[in-house]
Amino acid sequence: MQLEGKTALVTGGTKGIGLGIAVAMLDQGMKVMITGRKKSTVTEVVKKLSRKYKDNILGHAGNVTELKDQKAAVSMLKKEWKKLDVLIANAGVGHFHSIEDLTSKQWNEVIDVNLTGVFNSCKASIASLKKTKGYIITIASLAGTNFFARGTAYNASKFGLVGFTQAMMMDLRPYDIKCSTIMPGSVSTYFNDHKPSKKKDAWKIQPEDIGQMVLDLLKMPARTLPSKVEVRPFRPPSSYK
Ligand SMILES: NC(=O)c1ccc[n+]([C@@H]2O[C@H](COP(=O)([O-])OP(=O)(O)OC[C@H]3O[C@@H](n4cnc5c(N)ncnc54)[C@H](OP(=O)(O)O)[C@@H]3O)[C@@H](O)[C@H]2O)c1
Repeated sequence: MQLEGKTALVTGGTKGIGLGIAVAMLDQGMKVMITGRKKSTVTEVVKKLSRKYKDNILGHAGNVTELKDQKAAVSMLKKEWKKLDVLIANAGVGHFHSIEDLTSKQWNEVIDVNLTGVFNSCKASIASLKKTKGYIITIASLAGTNFFARGTAYNASKFGLVGFTQAMMMDLRPYDIKCSTIMPGSVSTYFNDHKPSKKKDAWKIQPEDIGQMVLDLLKMPARTLPSKVEVRPFRPPSSYK
């Protein structure tokens, strides 16, 4: 894919991995719309980015759990830029408790955002992506293949997302739409109320590294599709004796 001038929608692009991916694509001359739940946050991030990227950045406030919000984002993007080439279904949350302590509210939120949210973003985008022979990249996790204690909701959502993306890939391949899922290990972000620290998080994957991976996927020759990509920190503290 020639990237300059291509358009992308990044759900959950106000910070963390989504923002890292958005900036990587903007640096390639792509036009990017980011979303997030809070209007003031979306506006603030767009304002900051527009200093460098001018009209190539747009924002839309909405919740991925609402199909109508996702349709509104795609519609606004197409009104401005006429077409949609890439969807990055990234927005996600986590609650990590033993099954005994995990509440129904927490379970529902994780499943709603991480699974139904991705379904909604894809549903809202597929008709447009068919026209451009576009690309959908979902952000799953190594938690989509490795299970752990206190991970019931998050593991279920990410195992589910990996399956969802692979099945969707089979559905959309006949339309020349590519689908991939990226499965990161620890990334230095605000996830689960973490405060990123340059020093303490130095061993972790950085959001811009996932941005680089997205560019690599988009630039892959048309004949080739890395459909499921695992990525992990090379030197986690646990690897040292
Ligand atoms: N950090 C890691 O170690 C790691 C590892 C593997 C996979 N992941 C996955 O990577 C994705 C991004 O997480 P992150 O680490 O970058 O976390 P983050 O720093 O907390 O960012 C999450 C983003 O998602 C948005 N968001 C959350 N819920 C939303 C909703 N219901 N509707 C719309 N936007 C929503 C947030 O925006 P607002 O708060 O402004 O709404 C924010 O932009 C998630 O799917 C996560 O599961 C993270």
